[in-house]
Amino acid sequence: MRKFLIDTDTASDDAVAICMAFRHPDIEVVAVTVVAGNVPLDQAVQNALYTAELCGADVPTYAGASQPILRDLRTAQDVHGADGMGDIGLPLTGRVPADGWAPQVIIDTIRANPGEITLVAIGPLTNVAIALLMAPDIANKVERVVIMGGTGEHGPGNITPTAEFNFYVDPEAVRVVLRSGMPLEFVGWDVSIESAVVDDARQAQLRELGELGNFSIDIQATLQGFAWEETRLAGPDFPDPIAMAHAIDPSPATMEHLGVDIAIGPEPMHGTLIVDHYGFSQLEKNVNIVTHYPEDSFFGMLVDLLSDADAS
Ligand code: RIB
Ligand code: CA
Repeated sequence: MRKFLIDTDTASDDAVAICMAFRHPDIEVVAVTVVAGNVPLDQAVQNALYTAELCGADVPTYAGASQPILRDLRTAQDVHGADGMGDIGLPLTGRVPADGWAPQVIIDTIRANPGEITLVAIGPLTNVAIALLMAPDIANKVERVVIMGGTGEHGPGNITPTAEFNFYVDPEAVRVVLRSGMPLEFVGWDVSIESAVVDDARQAQLRELGELGNFSIDIQATLQGFAWEETRLAGPDFPDPIAMAHAIDPSPATMEHLGVDIAIGPEPMHGTLIVDHYGFSQLEKNVNIVTHYPEDSFFGMLVDLLSDADAS
């Protein structure tokens, strides 16, 4: 069994990604740690707990940072809904997280399982950065770090013309992670809009799978509108699920090992990923950037993992 630790700002695409990991037969999710991002922290915690309950997963969920390291929180409730799960009336209250604080849980889990943890970060990197500042040693003890964030080499932004939401919310945290020495793999929004757009045909395919297939589409109600009105995609896109697919099976991916930094500071470049493709800067090569993940590989895995027929 491979051991995954998932750090999430649980909203409508995170929930699908988390279900994928919970349902994969070869993966043990050792913990879910929650960070503020798409929605305020308490709501993200409730969404994560609801998702674990829906999947029948007995996995501890821990609350973490309620705001970025140095900035006010900027949520994406306009994209995912006020509750983050499409505002479709799900009962997203009253569940109780495990005792413990997410950054400390990240530290303790990696130290207790040296060389065995795949950290999958699908929200702002605040918890991960705090853990690194508290315990730099974990950078060399984690097996893989797969991060949904950024825009690849030259993709468009989804919150500003050039910045992707997770990195825009807490760019200082991104810089801590970039300089940590962790084995980083970035799956950017460019990969999501290329290979993870859930158009009508894909939605019909997922709905045929049963309860989780319907759940995966129902909670995208707000994101669907954002796609039609703002990003003009053929449907909601699934950045966190395709990042999770890469974490589960990196073999179909095309990656490039490049020097990467992040712009911190005034608009309009705030939160923009700086990828030194030609080595013009003195940046050391610190990130494996996924430049392509095949659409059929992603949706084939998603269908397998959400299908009732495989209900464990
Ligand atoms: O830019 C997409 C990312 O921001 C995803 O992780 C989504 O859940 C939001 O957090
Ligand atoms: Ca997310």
